[in-house]
Parts: sequence; structure tokens; C-alpha cells
Amino acid sequence: MGQTIICNHPLIQHKLGILRRKDTGAKEFRELVTEIAMLMGYELTKDFPLEEVEIETPMGKAHVKSISGKKVAIVPILRAGLGMVDGFLNLIPAAKVGHIGLYRDPKTFKPVSYYCKMPEDITNRQVIVIDPMIATGGSAIDAVTELKNMGVTNIKVANIIGAPEGIEEFHRVHPDVDIYVCSVDEKLNDNKYIIPGLGDAGDRLFGTK
Ligand code: PRP
Ligand code: URA
Repeated sequence: MGQTIICNHPLIQHKLGILRRKDTGAKEFRELVTEIAMLMGYELTKDFPLEEVEIETPMGKAHVKSISGKKVAIVPILRAGLGMVDGFLNLIPAAKVGHIGLYRDPKTFKPVSYYCKMPEDITNRQVIVIDPMIATGGSAIDAVTELKNMGVTNIKVANIIGAPEGIEEFHRVHPDVDIYVCSVDEKLNDNKYIIPGLGDAGDRLFGTK
């Protein structure tokens, strides 16, 4: 079964508290999402394998560590996932970036797919799917299904806030994929928004409401 890993670092939790506030404006919201994403990237890469390589310092030979696993692709779920891209790229600057466009139908709450563009070598990469919110789980589930259908085998998901219902459903459908999340909130409301959550992440990032 996939794991839910809670990113409990004090800096993450402090920044999340500010992010949730209704009086946090778009500029600060964007900055906080970038900072939280970067700190989440630190947690999420903790199990990346290392190998020993020989290099030359100005003083002679040395054995040093080098990351030996697959190269990384970061895959934001549009729109709100875009807010987390820079944070991850700050840590893994050589990563490639794929995009999956999904929006939640306001009546059915089911994700509707409208875009998908991946790096050509996506199947050889460790893929990190990013999206600030996992509510019903539908968007994250469909994004991971699309990636698996392309042949991707190594996937991790990073969400800032999750609802218990969506996380449980995600693990039921994709038992081989771990989720990194900063908070598992209380529940979903009747409109499938996370309570207490932070409202609509896309609208808050881009100032569309
Ligand atoms: C939000 C969020 C997730 C999705 C989560 O996106 O960024 O992608 O909802 O909900 P789910 O778990 O129930 O699928 P939204 O559909 O509002 O699109 P946007 O990012 O374009 O605003
Ligand atoms: N999407 C959001 O942006 N926020 C929620 O609470 C649920 C879905």
C-alpha cells in the first residue's frame, strides 16, 4: 500500500499557517507556495540513491557522493500545480517539466482532461506530480493514471493540503504510489472543498477571484 508521508518540518507548518489565512494576498500566497514546495522537495528526495564516484580536488583524488537514480521529471497539474514548479526546480534545476491540464467540473466534481505534454523520455524518469490540493482525489488519480498509461513506473505525488477522503481513494486506486502532504485536513464540504483548507488554490495563486 502506498504511504502518506506528512511533511512536518516547523518551517513548512509555519508557512502553511500563513498560506491558509484569508487575508494573505496573491503575491505572498505565490511566494509561500514556492517556499513550501522547495521544503517538500527536500523531504521527497530523501530516499534518492547515492553512489560513490572518484573526482579530483585541487589537492588530489577524493571519493564523493553523487545521485545515481533516475533523472527527474516534475509534472504540475494545471493550473494550481504551476505554483509549485519553481520551488522544486530550485532544488532539482536539471529536472524536466511535463504538464497535465485537468479541471474539476463544478457540477460533477469529476476531473476533465484538457492538456498533456510530457518530456520524450518520461518513462525513464522519476516523476513527481505536484498540485497544492488533493480533495476528492479525482485529479491526482487521473494524472497518475495518464502517466502509467504512457509507461511511467516511478511516481511520487506532492500536495500541500489533502482531504482524508481523497487520500484514501488515491491509495485505493494507486496502491504503489506515495503521497507527500503537509496537512491532512478534517473533511470535504458539500462542494468538495477542503475544510478548513485554504479555499481555491488556483484562484488564490493567479488572482482570478
Ligand atoms: C484544484 C486543485 C486540484 C483539484 C483537486 O484544481 O488544484 O487539481 O482541484 O480536487 P480533486 O482532488 O477533487 O480533483 P481545479 O480543478 O480547481 O483547477 P485549477 O487548478 O485550474 O483552478
Ligand atoms: N480545489 C481547491 O483549490 N481547493 C479545494 O479545497 C478543493 C479543490
